[in-house]
Amino acid sequence: MLLLSVLAKKKEKEVPVWLMRQAGRYLPEYRKLREESKSFLDLVFSPKIATEITLQPIKRFDFDAAILFSDILVIPLALGQQVSFEQGLELSPIDVEDIRVHAKEISHKLAPIAQTVQETRKELAKDKALIGFAGGPFTVALYMLQGTSKKGFDEALSFAYTQTKAFEKLLDDLTEATTYYLLDQIKAGVNAVQLFETWGALVPWHKQKEWLLKPLQTMIHAVRKDYPDFPVITYLKGVGGFVPYYASHSRTTAVSLDSSYPLELLDDIECVIQGNLDPHILLNGGAFMEQSVCSIKKALKGRPFVFNLGHGILKETPLEHVEQLMKFLRD
Ligand code: CP3
Repeated sequence: MLLLSVLAKKKEKEVPVWLMRQAGRYLPEYRKLREESKSFLDLVFSPKIATEITLQPIKRFDFDAAILFSDILVIPLALGQQVSFEQGLELSPIDVEDIRVHAKEISHKLAPIAQTVQETRKELAKDKALIGFAGGPFTVALYMLQGTSKKGFDEALSFAYTQTKAFEKLLDDLTEATTYYLLDQIKAGVNAVQLFETWGALVPWHKQKEWLLKPLQTMIHAVRKDYPDFPVITYLKGVGGFVPYYASHSRTTAVSLDSSYPLELLDDIECVIQGNLDPHILLNGGAFMEQSVCSIKKALKGRPFVFNLGHGILKETPLEHVEQLMKFLRD
């Protein structure tokens, strides 16, 4: 199945579009709610406010899909690790051996997010898709082990290479917990899910099958067992030549490509393509952005395709540049 018949019923020739991290700090209406709140997680766990934030970019820019307002780090939270975004990202130390995954506990702790899905689906127009998401186990494991995003992932990687058994147990636990969470989002009404393996480039090539493909494939299989054709988009950043292999072995519906992925070399990828304008190009707008959009559209002509960014929208991005992008794409 094409990705929701490529994100709902688009007219032929029209490219469906949504942007990675479209709900967030570049929007004044988000910054206002953020200033009024105690914390980022308070917003995420308040279904009424999280619904409003999910819908903000749709109201302003009329994108074809909304992405649930949440974060990939709600999984460590549900597994008992403390997570705070207030003074830069901080996660409390954890002992991997102590982690136990209980389906009911995950569902219970993340129930407000499922409620956001239900409320958003009720308010969102029928012809717009609602995309749920989760982090890839490798990426989430790095944050859990490093405890911050400020200094790279040296300590987390040292753990992976010296305590490999414990690291692989963590990947298994995250795979299981994330599967429950994805199924809860689907039950609550999302129309597709995106898996973010943002730090996939840090996996050495000879471990890509084990640390990237296997966990993602296990989650996709579990989802498909209950929901056979459910659309899954996978974002694997910076892994280049591994993408075609992943696309043909994972049963993902779509791959979301980062901006460096050469769209002219897509011949052996059969699934739906999503991507891949560089967020810095959007930040600067103007003629270079329009030329870049043309290059993307030209390279993807005739293929099932969803327009998106190659990574998340930058918080300094002027609203006029997003407006320019939408106008240019629609015209
Ligand atoms: O429209 C959307 O996409 C919004 C939903 C969303 C958020 N995070 C909200 C958010 C999504 C899909 C994510 C995914 C996410 N979170 C990823 C994968 C995608 C990517 O960009 O690579 C990753 C790696 C994270 C982890 C994360 N969350 C970091 C490193 C940070 C910044 C922490 C810091 O030091 O400030 C976040 C915070 C976050 N997640 C914000 C938003 C809107 C900003 C929080 C704020 O308002 O202060």
